[in-house]
Order: sequence, then C-alpha cells, then structure tokens
Amino acid sequence: KANPLWGGRFNEGASELLKEINSSVHFDKRLALQDIAGSIAHAEMLAFCGVLGVHEVKIIISGLHKIKLEIETGIFVFDSALEDVHMNVESRLHVIVGPVAGRLHTGRSRNDQVAVDTKMWVRDATDRLDALLYQLIEIIVEQANNHYAHAMPGFTHMQCAQPVTLGHHLLAYGEMFFRDRDRLLDARRRLNESPLGAAALAGTSYPINPVQTAHTLGFDRPTRNSLDAVSDRDFVLDYMMTAATMAMHMSRLAEELVIWSSPQFDFAHLPENLTAGSSIMPQKRNPDTAELVRAKSGRVFGNLMALLAVLKGLPLAYSRDMQEDKEALFDSADTVELCVRATTAMLAGITINLPKMKNDATLGNSSATDLADWLVREQKISFRESHGIVGNLVKWLEERGKELQGVTQIELASFDPRFDQRAADVLNVNHAIASRNSFGGTAPERVKTAAATLHQLNASL
Ligand code: ARG
Repeated sequence: KANPLWGGRFNEGASELLKEINSSVHFDKRLALQDIAGSIAHAEMLAFCGVLGVHEVKIIISGLHKIKLEIETGIFVFDSALEDVHMNVESRLHVIVGPVAGRLHTGRSRNDQVAVDTKMWVRDATDRLDALLYQLIEIIVEQANNHYAHAMPGFTHMQCAQPVTLGHHLLAYGEMFFRDRDRLLDARRRLNESPLGAAALAGTSYPINPVQTAHTLGFDRPTRNSLDAVSDRDFVLDYMMTAATMAMHMSRLAEELVIWSSPQFDFAHLPENLTAGSSIMPQKRNPDTAELVRAKSGRVFGNLMALLAVLKGLPLAYSRDMQEDKEALFDSADTVELCVRATTAMLAGITINLPKMKNDATLGNSSATDLADWLVREQKISFRESHGIVGNLVKWLEERGKELQGVTQIELASFDPRFDQRAADVLNVNHAIASRNSFGGTAPERVKTAAATLHQLNASL
C-alpha cells in the first residue's frame, strides 16, 4: 500500500529495492533530538503567527516532548519503512496525538527541516570538538612548561639540523591545534543562519516568522535565500575540511610518537595502557594508538572528498543526493573526536627519555651552524666564508671517524688556529638552544613566554 505520508498520488507501495536505497533512518536517527527541537520551535512560531491554534500547538508540542523522552531513554523504535528520521518522528506524533499531528508540517518541507537539523548537529559537533581541542592544547602547554629547557634534536629532511627544546617542538603542535580551533569557530559563525522557512525551495505563502524560529534555535538570523538554504551544505564541508586539517596535524604528531618510541630512537615511552603487544613476539610493545591516529586521517580526508563529489554539479535546489552527506559527516566527527582524545591521552601520559634526547641533540654535527655563526661574530668573516670553513672541518672530522660532538678545542685549533676555547664552548648544547632567542625561537626563555601566550590565547578564543 502507498506511503501514508506522501502516497496520495501513488497506486502501489515502495519496492523493496526503493526502501533499501531510499531509507536513511539507520544513520539519520542521530538527528532525532535536533529534529524535535526544530519542530517545537516551528510549531510555537506557527501559533505565534496565528497559522495554527494555540490549543492544537500545545497538543503537538506535548507529543513532541513525549517522543523526545522516548528517544532519550532508548525505547523509541525507528522503522526503516518510514524512510528517515523526520518521517519516523512525525508518524509517532500521529500515533500519540492523532490527526492534529498533520498540522505540524504546515509551511515547512523536509528540505528545510533536514537542513536545520543538520546545521544544529554540526553546531553541536563543533562545540564538542572545540572543547576537546581546548583540552589538548592545555596538555601541550603543560608539557611544554615541563620541558621548556630540555634539548632535543631538531630535524629538517629528517636529518639532524640544529638542537631545539622539547617545549618548543611541542608548542609547534599547539599552534596547529590552535589554528584548528580558530577554523572551527570561524565556520561556526558562518553556519549560524537558520534555513527554516525556506520550505521546499521557494519559501511559503503562510505568514510565518523565520526570525523567531532562528532565535529560538540559537541562530543569529534566518538565511537570506530559500533556494540556497535548502541546497547549501557548505557548513558540512567547512566542518569536514577542518576535521581533515586537524586529522592531518594529529597524524604528523602520531608519526613522531611512533618514531620516538622505536628502540632505535628511544626518545619516549607511550603510556603502557595505550600500547599493545604482539601475539607472536613476546618482547613487543607497539604504539598502536599512535599508528591508528596516523591512519584514521585517511578516512577523514576520504569523507571530505566524498561529499565534494556528491555536491559537485548538483543543480538548484534540493536533490536527494544531499542525503549522502550524513554518513560521511558522522564518521568524520566520530573519528576526529576519538583521535583528539587519544592524542591528548598519549601526550598526558608520555614518558620522555630526557638524557637520550639531549645526547642526540648534538649528533650529526648539529652544532655546525653555531660554529659558523661564532666565526662570523668573533672573527669578523662573512657567513658564506665561515660556512665553507666549517663544512671543510666536518669533512676533515668525518675522515677521522669523528663528529663535532665531543671534539676538543685542541682538535679544532689543529684544523684552524682561529678556533679558540670560546669556539669550543659554542658546541655545547645548552649554549646552542639558549642562543636562538629571536622572537618565536627555541631558547628556553622564549619557550616559557610562548607557552604562557598560547595558554592565554586558548583561554580567550
Ligand atoms: N532524508 C532527506 C535528506 O536527508 C530529507 C528528505 C527530503 N526528501 C525529499 N523527498 N525532498 O536529505
């Protein structure tokens, strides 16, 4: 038999195949509470504007509250034959309050309804993610304060470059996650216009008040164009784009944690309860949490591409294609929330091997720049010339099976008599990190200030 909600012009019911491809309730039931909030706001507004009677709206709203309770307590039964979450809620309303339920959909379409529901869902997801990121940044600031003066190797091309402080290295990730927060809040501001009132595509002839529903639902204002309102999913893309960028940042950090916890590096131990063993090799303690954070970025990127591909070439206004936004959105949100929590836990519980990091900070001739800078400063030669001298020195040492680390002043002077004791002193790692005290540099004093600044920015964003 034909669908009770829209079957008027149909002779027969949906085929099994249509039901299978059409039905979205198994995933869009996650919009149920937003859907009810939207319906309550819409019904109230209809009463206010005199479109519906106050008494019938009271009945409708009490029914909606009852459904809300059923959903919150998990006793609501979603039926896939009813297509989507909107139809499920409306059908239940019919059962609870009778024919008056049919008046709720006055001046509204599922097209503006699903747009407003999804916006509210993205807004909630944005706020949850923002709170998680705030926590992650706070842990980073805390660890940066613990390690503001501890040396580690700084790399370029994954080759030893110059010593840096661990606090500085961690705060680099803090800056990335702070930008992610900023991106989220920027997208949230842009998202906050209510599509309710756009109806199917063209607006409605009922004397509705979209400003009222917008404000009731926490939006700044209604959207300005009804065609755009029902076909815009930019706000989903914005969220998914930020999620993708954030996942990329987390995967870079996760990769470093994997490297750091390898026995070859031995820079850090991840908390034991976030690592896993091997079913064959008894000695193993693998960084599985970090590897999964590294890997899960892939699906977050994929979700973004999937939605871009769905939306590409869609003519105005609504097309059913747009229903395909939700699984990708939900998956991206679930994935990044999990990854931020995992990243926070790893950083909160990490044990750093400070002596190993410090020792390795000056491996690979990473003090070469310090020595070249010393020649420029004290022997008044040009940087290009000093670069050549120190390059030759490194080659000379290499031929003797040595490195700058551990070299004595006597050895230095035997290569070039201009190297006196002060030159040998700049090879010291603490000298190297303390000397890079330009704004944004790695010197401990700078790192301390940078940690305080990020903490403050994080609190005031
Ligand atoms: N469930 C749909 C979606 O997620 C909304 C339904 C709109 N249906 C329609 N026939 N216009 O986009």
